[in-house]
Amino acid sequence: MRLLSGVKPTHRPHVGNYFGAMRQFVALQDRGPGFFFVADLHALNQVHDAALLREYTLGVALDYLALGLDPERSTLFVQSHVPEVSELDWILGTVTPMGLLQRAHAYKDALAKEQEVGFGLFAYPVLMAADILLYRADTVPVGKDQVQHVEITRDIAVKFNTRYCKDFDPQTGQGGVLSLPAALVQAEVAVVPGTDGRKMSKSYGNTIPLFDPDKDVKKAIMGVVTSSTTVEAPKDPTTCNVFALLKLFLEPAEQATLAERYRRGGEGFGVYKALLLERFHAHLDPARKRREELAKNLDHVHAILTRGAAKARAVAGEVLSAVQKACGVGR
Ligand code: ADP
Ligand code: TRP
Repeated sequence: MRLLSGVKPTHRPHVGNYFGAMRQFVALQDRGPGFFFVADLHALNQVHDAALLREYTLGVALDYLALGLDPERSTLFVQSHVPEVSELDWILGTVTPMGLLQRAHAYKDALAKEQEVGFGLFAYPVLMAADILLYRADTVPVGKDQVQHVEITRDIAVKFNTRYCKDFDPQTGQGGVLSLPAALVQAEVAVVPGTDGRKMSKSYGNTIPLFDPDKDVKKAIMGVVTSSTTVEAPKDPTTCNVFALLKLFLEPAEQATLAERYRRGGEGFGVYKALLLERFHAHLDPARKRREELAKNLDHVHAILTRGAAKARAVAGEVLSAVQKACGVGR
């Protein structure tokens, strides 16, 4: 397994980012070489303040390390520190049909909301394809909303290989310069609900932060929307936002016991919220502490990123050369 994934530094991470994406990276890092990066070029579509972008970028690197990504086993780097990605991005753009990008959810959503769509948003999936293909990744752990982007990446790789590699067989994916990747989604946490029951997302303002101060975590958890039943009334765990979030932190047997408590009644939602807060801390405090420690020695973090970029560039250079050779550019 050759893993790769990226996180956009557009905000501080939340529980949805963790369960939907980042936790998987750490869990998978023993299964093969892994490339994990901070997608700062992608973030330019959303973050327009240089100092803030740098802060978020370093922040995501700290998050990765705090959550247990091991820079000895995995390659951790910042997207823009590997300029090869921008050249591959352009080359891939020349084999990408407009129609493929017009079908992308993010673009269609922006159009539907009558937002102004820039080239950066429209061409986003091509840069993402460059990210993935540049490191010959075969497995891309992501949240469900990113699956389409990985499919578009495959389509783009097939287009390139079909155009430029005479031995390429689209059935087997063999014989091309670019390898075909697949997304890896952990089904049970495909969509983490937010405090209001919709998908947890920065843009909905319904997040539970991972690394913010205790009081902010508590505020978010106490603010989870619940139905207005009496303390005595039996409660339905299947429609409760607190239960849906608690499930992420509980073993199946604990989930079953808690569901029984819900159905029995006699407890207010405050009890369940307190349990959620307790489980959040039990699960995440080690990472929260590690992050605090790492933040005290940023030189160390910068050194890790410098080494990561060098390792990443070594692979990127090889793949880009092969691509250039196949299509007739470069030296
Ligand atoms: P947001 O929607 O808050 O802006 P991002 O777009 O930065 O989050 O998502 C970063 C990663 O986290 C992606 O891989 C995405 O699939 C995953 N992710 C984000 N929100 C959720 C969620 N609610 N449930 C599962 N995964 C999520
Ligand atoms: N688009 C991803 C997101 O919004 C981030 C990302 C950029 C990414 N390049 C990637 C994820 C390559 C996986 C692989 O979360």
